[in-house]
Amino acid sequence: MTNNASSLRIVGGTPLTGEVSVRGAKNLVPKAMVAALLGSTPSTLRNVPNVVDVDIVSGLLKLHGVTVQRSDGRLVMDPGAVDHAEPAEINVHAGASRIPILMCGPLIHRLGRAFIPDLGGCRIGDRPIDFHLDALRQMGAKVRKEAEGLYIDAPEGLIGTKIELSFPSVGATEQVLLSAVLAEGTTELSNAATEPEIMDLICVLQKMGAQITVHAGRVVRIEGVESLQGYDHLALPDRLEAASWACAALATAGDITVLGAEQASMLTFLNVFRQVGGKFQVDDGGNGEPKSIRFWHPGGGLDAIAIETAVAPGFQTDWQQPLVVALTQAEGLSIVHETVYENRLGFTEALNQMGARIQVYRECLGGSTCRFGQRNFQHSAVISGPTQLRGAELEIPDLRGGFSYLIAALAAEGESTLHGLELIYRGYENFLGKLTALNAKYDEL
Ligand code: UD1
Repeated sequence: MTNNASSLRIVGGTPLTGEVSVRGAKNLVPKAMVAALLGSTPSTLRNVPNVVDVDIVSGLLKLHGVTVQRSDGRLVMDPGAVDHAEPAEINVHAGASRIPILMCGPLIHRLGRAFIPDLGGCRIGDRPIDFHLDALRQMGAKVRKEAEGLYIDAPEGLIGTKIELSFPSVGATEQVLLSAVLAEGTTELSNAATEPEIMDLICVLQKMGAQITVHAGRVVRIEGVESLQGYDHLALPDRLEAASWACAALATAGDITVLGAEQASMLTFLNVFRQVGGKFQVDDGGNGEPKSIRFWHPGGGLDAIAIETAVAPGFQTDWQQPLVVALTQAEGLSIVHETVYENRLGFTEALNQMGARIQVYRECLGGSTCRFGQRNFQHSAVISGPTQLRGAELEIPDLRGGFSYLIAALAAEGESTLHGLELIYRGYENFLGKLTALNAKYDEL
């Protein structure tokens, strides 16, 4: 990684203008890398970003005997000699990533058992793994919890069954897909998540020889097959990063073209961006030119809105935090109801210290009720604007929250200091290079 400063000093008040590129989605690439474990021949993944999760999963694959060759944007993974790894070493390599839990199914198919470390990931709510473990158990796995992590095996092999998720979890849906493709018989998953990254993982698995049907109403049927081959796949672009830069353009009254951004997976975001008063122009590319979307603030005021986050095709929770910063500049009262994570509004406290006026509530505001209503979770926010943000000293809390602080610092009057940039590097490739390309005023500390 080239970008490694842990702290930045930012001088705000300058519109961000210019071009940045996004590559393959952070929420697809590590999962497609795990899928390579299922093949009997090598897999090639293209459009791979240089982010920490890719380093972590590469390390874990190598630890399990997979040969991984990495050149810029391209990974070739040969699972010809998959083998067990030591739990202590797995724990060291897994770092703070949540991806290892997805290696359960593939490792059980290849080796009969799996060891899964204590999970990390962003600090947004409890982030339990009960759906994952319940699904694996329903497919015949036995789970033993020890201090160092989880030992999982399946004495009779994994067997297809009917599974219903109580919430359409992205990770649990991927868990079932990666476990069911080589299981005996048919698996029917109800209340599945259908995020674009999951559909892209299904494309990867189909290329490998899997039989997966996505039915209306969030039902996915997987017919287990005997064996799978390697794949060659171009990862779909990162629509979450693209939206982050779009919000940065809006909050700083700037003009950013995101090369590689694709309209189809961003329809819901683009509608909201337009409702708030942002402008965008889609370029479909072709003739050797990449796809891109230009996002800009047209001048004048922005409009307040009411939104709620939801699983796809709804407004994604990862779009929420960067958008909230832009909403501090909108005229009137905006409402944000977070229905995916119980604890993803903590970052608003720091924005208030910078001069924003954001009140958080336990109630479900804005229309519908969610599973966090009547419980002790502050999961709705009312943002009154416009407010002039002022520079502050900030400690980054999680990936998207951290990007939001950054946008706030860039939009603010005066100087800010941001600490804990490592969390941002987990999801944003060449982050400092992109800030430079957009004429942001910053120094590495
Ligand atoms: C993925 C994304 C993350 C995104 C999220 C929702 C990756 C690497 N991360 O996270 O960027 O914000 O989807 O779109 O792809 N839950 C349980 N038990 C479980 C699993 C989940 O209660 O076993 C709950 C979670 O606490 C959360 C909700 O389900 O409240 C959604 O989580 P999930 O969709 O699983 O998120 P991730 O896959 O972890």
